[in-house]
Amino acid sequence: MSASLRKKPVTDLTQAEAEKELKNLAGEIAAHDVAYHGEDAPTITDAEYDALCRRNNAIEARFPKLIRPDSPSKKVGAAVASGFKKVKHVTPMLSLDNVFNDDDVRDFDARIRRFLKLGPDEKIEMTAEPKIDGLSFSARYEKGKLAVVATRGDGVEGEDITANMRTLKKGLPEKLTSSDLLGRVPSLIEVRGEVYMTKSDFFAMNEAQAKKGAKIFANPRNAAAGSIRQLDANITAERPLKIFAYSAGAVDGAEWSTHWEFLGQLAAWGFPTNPDAKLCKSLDDVLAAYRSLEGRRAKLAYDIDGIVYKVNRIDWQKRLGFVSRAPRWATAHKFPAQQAETVLEKIEIQVGRTGALTPVARLTPVTVGGVVVSNATLHNQDEIERKDVREGDTVVIQRAGDVIPQIVEVKLDKRPKSARKFKFPDHCPVCGSKAHREADEAVLRCTGGLFCKAQAVERLRHFVSRDAFDIEGIGEKNIEEFFAEGLVKTPADLFKLEARDKKTLTPLSAREGWGAQSVKKLFEAINARRTITLERFIYALGIRLIGQAKARLLAQNYGSFKEWRKAMLDVAKGKAEARAQLEGIESFGASVAEELEAFFAEKQNVEAIDDLYDQLEAVEDFVQADTSNSKIAGLTVVFTGNLVSMARSEAKAKAQSLGAKVAGSVSAKTNLVVAGPGAGSKLKEAEKLGVKVISEDDFIELIGG
Ligand code: IVH
Repeated sequence: MSASLRKKPVTDLTQAEAEKELKNLAGEIAAHDVAYHGEDAPTITDAEYDALCRRNNAIEARFPKLIRPDSPSKKVGAAVASGFKKVKHVTPMLSLDNVFNDDDVRDFDARIRRFLKLGPDEKIEMTAEPKIDGLSFSARYEKGKLAVVATRGDGVEGEDITANMRTLKKGLPEKLTSSDLLGRVPSLIEVRGEVYMTKSDFFAMNEAQAKKGAKIFANPRNAAAGSIRQLDANITAERPLKIFAYSAGAVDGAEWSTHWEFLGQLAAWGFPTNPDAKLCKSLDDVLAAYRSLEGRRAKLAYDIDGIVYKVNRIDWQKRLGFVSRAPRWATAHKFPAQQAETVLEKIEIQVGRTGALTPVARLTPVTVGGVVVSNATLHNQDEIERKDVREGDTVVIQRAGDVIPQIVEVKLDKRPKSARKFKFPDHCPVCGSKAHREADEAVLRCTGGLFCKAQAVERLRHFVSRDAFDIEGIGEKNIEEFFAEGLVKTPADLFKLEARDKKTLTPLSAREGWGAQSVKKLFEAINARRTITLERFIYALGIRLIGQAKARLLAQNYGSFKEWRKAMLDVAKGKAEARAQLEGIESFGASVAEELEAFFAEKQNVEAIDDLYDQLEAVEDFVQADTSNSKIAGLTVVFTGNLVSMARSEAKAKAQSLGAKVAGSVSAKTNLVVAGPGAGSKLKEAEKLGVKVISEDDFIELIGG
């Protein structure tokens, strides 16, 4: 392996270089594994080893097709057997008693009163905190330094997850500094809390997992638990985990008079604490806090399964103590379940705009958390096989937020005898074309292209949608109807409608539900779009992986329709230079280029585009907003190294809005390199090519602050 290749930023690697390097990394890492585990004689430091693994993962992330069967990133399974180190908690981690209604809460209050011999008028302050549905942890700090983090385990002894917890972006502080409320740091403290995943992160992650054909998690809790219990901390590092801290185990050398004060202390030390925690002065306050949170439950970013009430005064907590495995001073008020059982009547296959065959479960309607549910997602073929979900099965469904519910369990004891294994179709259910599965994808796709009605209709829908051609007055139903009748098969046909209408004996105005006025409005809406910006034009075509941001970048990089069309045809013809230019666009990579190549390699797609272009008055060249005062308009800029005053994404957006092109790698076409501390190969390349290099401060001055 040449040292220079290893230093090359992953974004700059060509496919061939990536392939070569992955092969070398697999060999090298395997040899280090043997030296470390087998022979207890490592030849490199842990940090160097981690760097090799990270580099391997980064290359694989950019070139998923090149992931090798013997990839080091796949070796988690082997390692799991050796397990985690065990950690004994200084103070056991207990659980909480549950209450389910207001009367139970009043009993809880009454019990405390009796125990403490408080009069009926004496107020018991309590905190009310969301009960996070995650995985609990205990982080031990010795002399203010993070020593070890463990899972709850059996409450007495858990598993060592220190390395994994250290990978969290906003996680545990490494040190507790004395700039706290108390002025000093306890010699020992076990800070306890919950690791969780937000609902949106969970769905995004599952979607990515589904695409890769990797494990799908049933809910955010499982996803958090599965992510933290990884022997390879590199995997945890890629998972969007978050924490909340909310209690203490053993504490030596510090005291607080109230739990509320302790929560403030945790926040002052830098622990994430829950912003929805409330201090309640009375039982009425407590019940009001429950109602309020219950009402907001679906809108919270993460799953909660109730509220935890804790007596605020710590001297009272101490007097109350524990009964068996739960404290007398705290309880969990549970929310009604968001799960329900129902029957899966049918599994249907939907065909999307890009031809993906997606299974959807049609359910006997059932109410879950106040919402009637009749569909659930099944993700993909692998997921159906893994769960062995069958038509006729009784299933447990779960709703999280406003998103389409999922099937969490199949009730095998209720399976009818007649239920047969679901056979995933190998043909498109809409057009009958063969369905094809790419080697590195979990998704089966219809190969019918625009010939497939489902794809064509979905594409047309996308074409008229708000961010695309934005043609008002044409709803989903009309499109389906027009398509079915052969009136509109391609985008260009929309623009031919009016001319056709004038000649035909069956004008649109003669149809049910249409009047002269609505037809006139529709034609006006269509005609208003005969002039369109290049970026909308590109986005509207609905090419896989080309969303708005990428369409804009294409428009920006190629400038005009003609240039773009020519370049894409060159890419489709396999011209290396055109391909390199395309892959060189910031955030583009091999997979995006492949989609464009595949799209333009289809004759009918190119014909459809040209046909559309002929119908339009103008596809406007890409123009920058207002860059008349911009000193960087038209320049190709590359950012490298760390930026101090703004995030890289912010700097890029700023440069783009001022008319610059932002590229990911330095080439002869680069006009300016903005280099922060830690800049490496790109800076060297710029110096070699004689490209102007400036600092972040210079850049800020250049763009006018
Ligand atoms: S306090 C001594 N506060 O719920 C009791 N627990 O069912 C210490 N949990 O094991 C726990 N959110 O994993 C507390 N705000 C919160 C919580 C919370 C979630 C979990 C925790 C505990 C379980 C008990």
